[in-house]
Amino acid sequence: MARFQLPDELIFLENRKRPQKQSTALMTGKLVVITGATSGVGYQAVQQLAKNQANLVMINRNAERSALLKNQLQSEYGIKVDVVLADLSDLHDVRRAAEYILKTYPRINVLINCAGMHVTRATYTEQGYETVFCVNHLSSFLLTELLLERLKESAPSRILQINSEGHRFNGLDIDDLHWKKRFYTGLRGYGASKTAQLLTLWETNEAIRDTGVTINAMHPGDVKTNIGSNNGLIYRLFRRFMINPLLGDPKISGESIYYLVADPAMENVSGKFYHLTVEEKPAKHALDRQLGKAIYLISKELTGLK
Ligand SMILES: NC(=O)c1ccc[n+]([C@@H]2O[C@H](COP(=O)([O-])OP(=O)(O)OC[C@H]3O[C@@H](n4cnc5c(N)ncnc54)[C@H](OP(=O)(O)O)[C@@H]3O)[C@@H](O)[C@H]2O)c1
Repeated sequence: MARFQLPDELIFLENRKRPQKQSTALMTGKLVVITGATSGVGYQAVQQLAKNQANLVMINRNAERSALLKNQLQSEYGIKVDVVLADLSDLHDVRRAAEYILKTYPRINVLINCAGMHVTRATYTEQGYETVFCVNHLSSFLLTELLLERLKESAPSRILQINSEGHRFNGLDIDDLHWKKRFYTGLRGYGASKTAQLLTLWETNEAIRDTGVTINAMHPGDVKTNIGSNNGLIYRLFRRFMINPLLGDPKISGESIYYLVADPAMENVSGKFYHLTVEEKPAKHALDRQLGKAIYLISKELTGLK
């Protein structure tokens, strides 16, 4: 009897249960730049990276947590760790962080854009952008673009965007990127930001063909982290009692990220979306290249890149 096959849009339900790959490769002497390492997925990623001897530049916003983490990583694993403080809802901070990194580090082997957030109500950044769109998409887009030449000079090098199955909620409307005309919902706002990140990834992937730089995206699992803890009491109670019990240990996210950025099997793989370490087809709307080209240009404009 033929085996029942889930449709593409639901295959993630199967992929989340599949055994995930791990890498035994070391990253001795390599430099990894990562955002959002103070908590959850990013925290687990830096533990794996440090354990396997990568040096780290962490772009974080919380000074105290960053200092504690830096001390722990340095003393436990004997690697070099640098902290750059930046609030990714402020694109000036992103530029300042990139400037410092370019001035300080002649080589960057890996860039991981991990920081992300989810809110139930639309809020706006100083520059007037919807905050989730700015933090999840525009800041990662800008940082990638600003560090791209250095990544090329350091090739072979890799970029990993921590995306989400949440891109399937869509919500992206090119005429209303900042939710001024539509009713905002957390899932749709989050979906819009992650869709924009995927759409621009295909464009960047094309632009860096044959440069020795790769760019991929991944869903880091359905794991227990602090995401959403900035929301109101009702949301936090719902998350704590209804969602958290269904979520896994974020250690799997760290191990999977490590596999994607370190394993030799991934060296020439670019332009793919992974559920943890399983390659997966993103939602149809996130594969619309015409829309992608438009979002790429708009993202350049909104981040002040020409
Ligand atoms: N958890 C999941 O199941 C899941 C599923 C799919 C995708 N993801 C993705 O995984 C990534 C990490 O999320 P997480 O679940 O690990 O959440 P988390 O525990 O809340 O960690 C988010 C990280 O991003 C940082 N961050 C948030 N807003 C920032 C800002 N404006 N400026 C600078 N840093 C900022 C946080 O810094 P602070 O410590 O200062 O708050 C923290 O380090 C996100 O991109 C998320 O969309 C997570």
